[in-house]
Amino acid sequence: MNTQSPNQLTIHQPDDWHVHLRDGEMLAAVADYTAQQFGRAIVMPNLAPPITTVDAAKAYRDRILSAVSSAHHFTPLMTCYLTDSIDPQEIEAGFTQGVFTACKLYPANATTNSAHGVTDIDNITAALETMQRIGMPLLVHGEVTDSDIDIFDREAVFIERVMAKLLSRFPDLKIVFEHITTKDAVNFVMNSGSNIAATITPHHLVYNRSAIFAGGINPHLYCLPIAKREVHRLALRKAATSGSAKFFLGTDSAPHTVENKQSACGCAGVFNAPYAIESYAQTFEEEGALDKLEGFASLYGPAFYGLKPNSRKIILERQPITAPPTLTVMDTQIIPFHAGEVLTWRLAGFA
Ligand code: DOR
Ligand code: ZN
Repeated sequence: MNTQSPNQLTIHQPDDWHVHLRDGEMLAAVADYTAQQFGRAIVMPNLAPPITTVDAAKAYRDRILSAVSSAHHFTPLMTCYLTDSIDPQEIEAGFTQGVFTACKLYPANATTNSAHGVTDIDNITAALETMQRIGMPLLVHGEVTDSDIDIFDREAVFIERVMAKLLSRFPDLKIVFEHITTKDAVNFVMNSGSNIAATITPHHLVYNRSAIFAGGINPHLYCLPIAKREVHRLALRKAATSGSAKFFLGTDSAPHTVENKQSACGCAGVFNAPYAIESYAQTFEEEGALDKLEGFASLYGPAFYGLKPNSRKIILERQPITAPPTLTVMDTQIIPFHAGEVLTWRLAGFA
């Protein structure tokens, strides 16, 4: 990393290895927030209906590119949503044609639009064999869905029940354990081979589960996997800032309208795209690890996916910036992460 002065950082442009861009009017409203910061983004396929075919992914990619302002240099990387009946040939064709970058495993009913997800990984054996053979990454939402498992234990139990089995059956499969939230997941990834990596969101680095209930219920901090105890947040911060290439940036930015969040049954998701790199920069500075930001944000993700880092660079400046309390989208609002808070760093431009 090139550090001109303690008040400015120039790093390769980051990528977002996990984002929800939605579709239609919401896509039009949010796409530029991601494209203004990131060179590439792994786009989640949990639309309704989900993206399960090469044609659907191509059409969605076109809609994303139409939604992004031409001022940005942004490449969406598409994913295929795994279902119990997914066709391995479709996966291979999409990967070979450069349409699908990876496949996403949602355990059925784990989260937003996951009703078509996988009910048992034994049902996707052929797909996983194909992916292992062709070197196509599997992106995992790592939570069991059994109602008898406490929501705060679902990631740890997933490691025992599903991850361990995945690794032993498919030892060479590239797996990204998405948006990890526990020290159990950190340890699991650290102790696994180089084909296993993890993404970490900005919000799981910033708050723990108590914050969701501080002074009343805070629906804008509710996401899945839900934030855990402080000991887990500290383990995530240590992992993200460790300089290990196994941990890289994935925002899991997931917009929902204010009505859908502030509801009797509010949706899961934190919309962090507008100030994602600023949030990460602040965390890395707090950890005394600004020199590790570029690896996490811009180098380790591309390396895992077999891609080059972006050639452009971004300039971050130490200059206080207040995140807006609300953003107008469509005819309503989204409350973004860090709403109304002052952040230390801002994205000042490109080099
Ligand atoms: O909080 C979440 N929101 N977690 C997910 O896994 C899905 C996402 C969404 O699509 O809203
Ligand atoms: Zn997600």
